Amino acid sequence: MSNTPAKPNFHRQQLEQGGAVLAPMAGFSDAPFRLLCREYGAAWAVTEMVSSMGVVMNGKKSFEIGEPYEGEPNLVIQLFGADPQIMAEAGAKLYEEFKPVALDINMGCPVPKIVKNGGGACLLQTPDLAHDLISALGKAVPIPVSAKIRLGWDKYNAIEVAKALESGGAASIALHGRTRAQAYTGQADWDKIEEVSSHLQVPLIGSGDVTTKAMFEERKHKASGIMIGRGAIGRPWIFQEVLGGVSLEIPDIVRLAYRHCLLNVEWYGEHTGMRQMRGVLPHYFKGFAGANRVRQQITQVSSLENVRLLLNEIFPEVSLDDVVMGAAFEGHKAATLNGHIARE
Ligand SMILES: Cc1cc2nc3c(=O)[nH]c(=O)nc-3n(C[C@H](O)[C@H](O)[C@H](O)COP(=O)(O)O)c2cc1C
Repeated sequence: MSNTPAKPNFHRQQLEQGGAVLAPMAGFSDAPFRLLCREYGAAWAVTEMVSSMGVVMNGKKSFEIGEPYEGEPNLVIQLFGADPQIMAEAGAKLYEEFKPVALDINMGCPVPKIVKNGGGACLLQTPDLAHDLISALGKAVPIPVSAKIRLGWDKYNAIEVAKALESGGAASIALHGRTRAQAYTGQADWDKIEEVSSHLQVPLIGSGDVTTKAMFEERKHKASGIMIGRGAIGRPWIFQEVLGGVSLEIPDIVRLAYRHCLLNVEWYGEHTGMRQMRGVLPHYFKGFAGANRVRQQITQVSSLENVRLLLNEIFPEVSLDDVVMGAAFEGHKAATLNGHIARE
């Protein structure tokens, strides 16, 4: 029997609150977006993947956009890499610095840059290495560890991989219902997600193509929880919707888009914050009167004032004057003022 204290049962506890989780998305899952998604009910929010080697060599500088707020609650940081020792060192370092509630290993990314070094989806071909990676990470930190996989490299072997991960100590596994070869084509296969889930003791979180409450309802019995990725971009309230809450009216959407800008400017500074928003803002404006006009012009915005003027012009009935960032957790304000902006 090991003397190691039991780890917190974070995943199972959080999943009891409805089971909708923000998927990791490179380029999108930054601190402001994670904050909004949690506020609307995401059980936890995963950062985009960060290189384990990068963390060991350069610490938090290796985050592209995923760096966490200080004291960020229900934070899960995702790592990629293929060396168990480096994975363990990186995990310990991230735990010391950010105190996440859990760490996750990316075993699904199909991008050649990641795969050619043996990381991401490449690990689907080597279940033994996948096992050793999760086991090394789990031993290095006092928090639960998980992995995110796909159905397989070019054929379905997710049961084998998931079982290897479970025996290596994974507290939870997320499964995107496509193979690496499929990339993002076709439909995510939720019957296979259900099949893999039935072979595991630990919770399996299904991922792929859930963008509405009806889709969530249809699939929720197939896994212990559901990750939402693309469906949450420009729509962080989707978590509230799928959990049975109300959708947002148009004025609330306009105000939320503006609030997202405020959060971004606070976190990154105006120049970087607004550039980052150019890829996000168009997603807020879809399917209602005025939305097309906003989408055409909003990718050019370079300042908060630009956005404000544009939204005031197209939606004169919507007041932006009282929109505030809103400190969504204790310490948020202090963390951001002492953190990112101070360093710009
Ligand atoms: C732009 C983008 C970036 C992504 N980045 C990551 C990542 O860093 N780590 C990861 O495990 N999956 C990543 N994914 C995969 C998603 O987490 C998710 O599994 C996939 O998009 C399917 O879910 P969806 O249909 O809800 O988007 C990314 C997907 C997209 C679209």
